Amino acid sequence: MKTFHRMTLTAATLFLAITSAHALDGDAKAGEQSAAMCVACHQTDGAGMNIPGGESWPSLSGLNAEYLYQQMKSFKDGSRQSATMLPFVSMLNDQQYKDVAVYYSQLPAVQGKGDTEVTEAELAHGEKLATVGDWDRYIVPCVACHGPDSLGAGDVFPRLAGQHAGYISDQLHAWQTGKRDNDPQHLMLAIAERMNDEDIRAVSQWLSRQPVQK
Ligand code: HEC
Ligand code: HEC
Repeated sequence: MKTFHRMTLTAATLFLAITSAHALDGDAKAGEQSAAMCVACHQTDGAGMNIPGGESWPSLSGLNAEYLYQQMKSFKDGSRQSATMLPFVSMLNDQQYKDVAVYYSQLPAVQGKGDTEVTEAELAHGEKLATVGDWDRYIVPCVACHGPDSLGAGDVFPRLAGQHAGYISDQLHAWQTGKRDNDPQHLMLAIAERMNDEDIRAVSQWLSRQPVQK
């Protein structure tokens, strides 16, 4: 167990060292124009929408530009499968991916939403998974990679705090089913495959209620 912990943290530290100084070569003004066709779902402020029981639209505002760019490429190359996003990435070229990524990264982050009916016990379970994990089941705490308060770390680990619960939950299930297979060294797959539906619901609901910045 100790070895697993150390290996994971080493991988995380390594990524940070490699990627944190990178600045993406995109133009926010051009990105704003390309984003005209994204607002139907991601909204004009980039806040997206939580759709309980449906396909939630992630909040993009304030996320790391390099991370967003990598996701656009993943939808295009199929390592991240989304029938909803595929037509939109197909309309843009690589430079436009960079432009929209820089544009959204510069918008102020907006607080996401969770479901209204959540119990205190569920939230407590979610907080535990996010902050201390569950070492008996090798579930590494989210903060170990996603940064203190899950606010994101470098170019590789996106902010989770204040992201919509429905979307966080969808992504954890997407890793479990193989729809999302784009994470470096399968760092996320290793976590997601150890979580059950109750874990996923609890951590998603708790994270969505955390502030988007300190
Ligand atoms: C019809 C609704 C819709 C439209 C329009 C749309 N998106 Fe999305 N977007 C989604 C959904 C749903 C997801 C989550 C897909 C998944 O489950 O992997 C998503 C995910 C993303 C992500 C990944 C976010 C993350 O945190 O990993 C990016 C980046 C993104 N969209 C950018 C765009 C851009 C740029 C446009 C316009 C060119 C756009 N989207 C248009 C629905 C939409
Ligand atoms: C060992 C490192 C590591 C740990 C621990 C970890 N993650 Fe991640 N996570 C990643 C990486 C790397 C990515 C980016 C994957 C990519 O590039 O597509 C990611 C992405 C995500 C995303 C996608 C966000 C988005 O905007 O699409 C979600 C949701 C997520 N993680 C949830 C969690 C939760 C919940 C936990 C804790 C239970 C957790 N992660 C713990 C490494 C980790």
